[in-house]
Amino acid sequence: MTGFDSAYARASGDATSISWADQVPNPNMIRWLETNRVDGANQRALVIGCGLGDDAEELTRRGFETTAFDISPTAIQWCRRRYPDSGVRYVAADLFHIPGEWQASFDFVLESYTLQVLPAEIRRQAIPIMAGFVVPGGALLLIARGRDEDDPPGKSPWPLTRQELELFIRGGLAEKSFQDYMDDENPPVRRFMVMYQRK
Ligand SMILES: C[S@@+](CC[C@H](N)C(=O)[O-])C[C@H]1O[C@@H](n2cnc3c(N)ncnc32)[C@H](O)[C@@H]1O
Repeated sequence: MTGFDSAYARASGDATSISWADQVPNPNMIRWLETNRVDGANQRALVIGCGLGDDAEELTRRGFETTAFDISPTAIQWCRRRYPDSGVRYVAADLFHIPGEWQASFDFVLESYTLQVLPAEIRRQAIPIMAGFVVPGGALLLIARGRDEDDPPGKSPWPLTRQELELFIRGGLAEKSFQDYMDDENPPVRRFMVMYQRK
């Protein structure tokens, strides 16, 4: 059992005891989808580290054929219980041992708040794998805490630096937009929201 699986198991079905589980789709993602008038029809989406499934369900509502995975089997069972009639394909899988057929297979990949819970040396290995999910012409949306290079790294969830995100570009993606802003949380959190596209 991973630390994450233990946290989901300890919650015993009470999502309010999981600090990151807002039980609503990520408002930053919603804003991005609305601003860019995204229509998921005939598009395949992949949600990385899907937690309790709110973002995956939202993408499915918007027409995407969605696969969502998490390292925690407990979280995945929870998603299936929460959304018994879901169109989402929920899979218990570790980012570092993903099915080969996921390589270069998704038009839209969502990475929201998973990189920031991985220590820096693991993040460096995770980014090229994430980039590898995207089909040519497809997009990856990253939403994470952000910091400047000379800010202290802090503790988990670790804010990311723009410099380390360059690994997405080395992974064959082009940076199409980069937003650095304070969000609406109380207190506000500095966020990076970045859209990449595979050439
Ligand atoms: C902070 S939570 C964010 C969950 C969800 N994305 C959200 O925004 O609510 C990070 C998630 O990443 C998952 N995770 C951590 N390491 C992972 C890995 N190696 N492979 C897949 N999922 C992982 C955890 O189980 C957890 O559900």
